[in-house]
Amino acid sequence: MTLEWDAAEYEVLSGPQTGWGLNLLGRVLEDRPLGGDESAIDAGCGTGRVTEMLLERLPRGSVLAVDASGAMIEAARRRFAGDGRVRVERVDLLQLEVEEPVDLIFSTATFHWIKDHEKLFGRLARALKPGGWLVAQCGGAGNISRVTRATEEVMGEERFRDRFVGWEDTKEFADPGTTRARLEAAGFGEIQTWLHEEPTRFGSVEDLARYLKTVVLRLHLERLPEADQEPFTQAVAARVAAVEDPPVMDYVRLNMIATRGRE
Ligand SMILES: C[S@@+](CC[C@H](N)C(=O)[O-])C[C@H]1O[C@@H](n2cnc3c(N)ncnc32)[C@H](O)[C@@H]1O
Repeated sequence: MTLEWDAAEYEVLSGPQTGWGLNLLGRVLEDRPLGGDESAIDAGCGTGRVTEMLLERLPRGSVLAVDASGAMIEAARRRFAGDGRVRVERVDLLQLEVEEPVDLIFSTATFHWIKDHEKLFGRLARALKPGGWLVAQCGGAGNISRVTRATEEVMGEERFRDRFVGWEDTKEFADPGTTRARLEAAGFGEIQTWLHEEPTRFGSVEDLARYLKTVVLRLHLERLPEADQEPFTQAVAARVAAVEDPPVMDYVRLNMIATRGRE
């Protein structure tokens, strides 16, 4: 299971992710419109903001919303209480198993949190009907390089260094070529993979620090005693703002569309 999230903060701060999810849905469904009665999985649903937009396209369909975080699942369950189209389940995507394969797997801002993409894509392929499709977006090669650089510098500071001995980043910012090959190996066809940039500006260093704490630095902050968490976050935010102020996060998104082959 992955780390816990502050679901209430994520709900407030996830405007960028929600916007990217909406754009991806719009773009994909222009080429491949839904009938409205399909079954879908939202893989890594978070609090359900993006799931809600998917559901608007499925008035007679169903969505299985899964996430590894208990806090996110609680928030999503509250959001969809009483909506008979939605089932919300706490599941690690690396262990995903479904009784009935679905027509569509949709996922946003999740796959880069999972290191083993080969295993992930294998699980997803098995959860799809033959001819079903995967539409996903996550952090890709070069994603948030300013934050990564700033974080490494702060981790190397005398006051924090000891806490990060043996640190290994477990995120996976993959490139389109590698992702295509991994999808092919998992049995997908008609594959499209590409990167696009989503530079995201924050109003102030304080706004950026709040966002970093909730979304980006959670794994780092786990290593630190409470008293060090705020100074660490502030130091990273200040370094990002030193590049450009108001600060910008240089997001790069990896998109993938693929169909599960027919046997
Ligand atoms: C940044 S949030 C994205 C949520 C939502 N899709 C959105 O776009 O706002 C990433 C989510 O991925 C989930 N996640 C990370 N690793 C996971 C795994 N192995 N299995 C299931 N969910 C996972 C986290 O719990 C978190 O809710």
